[in-house]
Amino acid sequence: MNNKKLLDLLNKQYNFEIESAYIYKAMSLWAAKENWSGVANFFHQQALEEMFHASKLENYLLDIGYCVKLTKISEPKAEYSSLLEVFKDAFDHEKQVTANFVEIMKEAKEVPDYKTEIQAQWFLTEQVEEEATFDDLIATLERISDSPAGLFQFDAELAQRKFSPEA
Ligand SMILES: [Fe+2]
Repeated sequence: MNNKKLLDLLNKQYNFEIESAYIYKAMSLWAAKENWSGVANFFHQQALEEMFHASKLENYLLDIGYCVKLTKISEPKAEYSSLLEVFKDAFDHEKQVTANFVEIMKEAKEVPDYKTEIQAQWFLTEQVEEEATFDDLIATLERISDSPAGLFQFDAELAQRKFSPEA
């Protein structure tokens, strides 16, 4: 893979981060509709975080003189059967993001392109946390699925999440 192809791959990931925000926003809207206001907040904050990831890639690509391009985003899934399904979908999505960055890292090493490698490294570190978050939330949900009080508490805790970009 040459450098141009690698940067095209990064531009594709830039669009995927925006698509991630779109998917999480749809999850937030579903939760709001179902009166899980804490879960709605959690996914709204997650969408903000994905837009932050997108701007991080955008800034990098612009800084190195790449012509950043927006592509079409498909309509996200709007209906879910349960909270567990939403969180499982989100976890699968994060695993896909991780796989994408593993691919970018592999190609950056092959070119080699050390600057892009450092970017991929930041995102892969971030992905460990993202996957751990969803893994924990799914484990909690599975434990409390039959407890209305537990679900009430779960929702209340997620109402506290507030995304703030790193300084
Ligand atoms: Fe992301």
